[in-house]
Amino acid sequence: MRDTTGLAYTPAIAAATQPIYERMKRVMPAVEWPFHAPLVHEINRLKRERNAVILAHNYQTPEIFHGVADIVGDSLALAARATETDADVIVVAGVHFMAETAKLLNPAKTVLIPDTGAGCSLAESITAADVRLLRERYPGVPVVAYVNTSADVKAEVDICCTSGNAVEVVESLGAPRVIMLPDEYLAKYVATQTSVEIIAWKGHCEVHERFTGDEIREFRGRFDELIVIAHPECPPDVLEAADFVGSTARMVDFVTDRRPPRVLMVTECSMSDNIAAAAPETEFVRPCNLCPHMKKITLATILDSLRTLEPRVTIAPEVADRARRSVERMLVVKPR
Ligand code: 13P
Ligand code: SF4
Repeated sequence: MRDTTGLAYTPAIAAATQPIYERMKRVMPAVEWPFHAPLVHEINRLKRERNAVILAHNYQTPEIFHGVADIVGDSLALAARATETDADVIVVAGVHFMAETAKLLNPAKTVLIPDTGAGCSLAESITAADVRLLRERYPGVPVVAYVNTSADVKAEVDICCTSGNAVEVVESLGAPRVIMLPDEYLAKYVATQTSVEIIAWKGHCEVHERFTGDEIREFRGRFDELIVIAHPECPPDVLEAADFVGSTARMVDFVTDRRPPRVLMVTECSMSDNIAAAAPETEFVRPCNLCPHMKKITLATILDSLRTLEPRVTIAPEVADRARRSVERMLVVKPR
């Protein structure tokens, strides 16, 4: 049980946190705010005391995304922005591979992951030994790793990519054939966007693999003028049934630029809440698939982490140097 003693919803805290609540009031009932406000207030105070920043992925819940995060975005934006901070402490409100990426890019800083159990089915689908076997099987074929991999795996590959730059990264290698791991569906999607031959691994995201093309067609039958936007971690029949495919950041841009009247976001459920707060005229249709790993990060675990400066992310130096090179190579590839 985490210690939240002394954190009460006082009139002073209510007044101080009111502007923060305003940002998310469209997606959070007023009755819930008194439970979150004292933690939000204390986290924001401790951040200043510790010279800390919080990086939050688009899948975090609104009280984290709008309440305490300093930098929000997709995996690519979080990796890129992690290089720009002058904070002493980085708290990653995301999953473990994201915290490892932040640590690779900030070896001298303290990087915290509030719950070390926040894993990822993709990252767990492949090991460094698997990559070495692939290299033996396909000698000379360059290897691209999705950032959703461990530092051990990143250390074995030529370059990383995210869903926001995968096609550009594959084409940047100038090779006729590329191994792309571990997400089979992202690899298949990239193969439809480039003439480079793609060799895929059979990893899947446990959240996105549950969507089906039939489900999308059923939603279209139930809701008029539905615009369907899907994440490339979804199976091919889902992507074929979608109007637009893109990373979480590109999905956000799609909604905020085009302001469609009704949208189905085929991705993790909290995304819709976070964008709904900024796109009041759009109605969000939500099949609610939650990522159990992302949801391990809560205001209580973030507060605990800031208080104790634990759990810290550590990466063995011989792995870190090689893994960092793969991430840095990715960061110089410009997305279209
Ligand atoms: P992006 O935010 O990079 O699109 O990735 C989605 C995801 O599943 C991260 O875990
Ligand atoms: Fe991994 Fe999927 Fe969760 Fe993203 S949503 S962290 S890819 S399991």
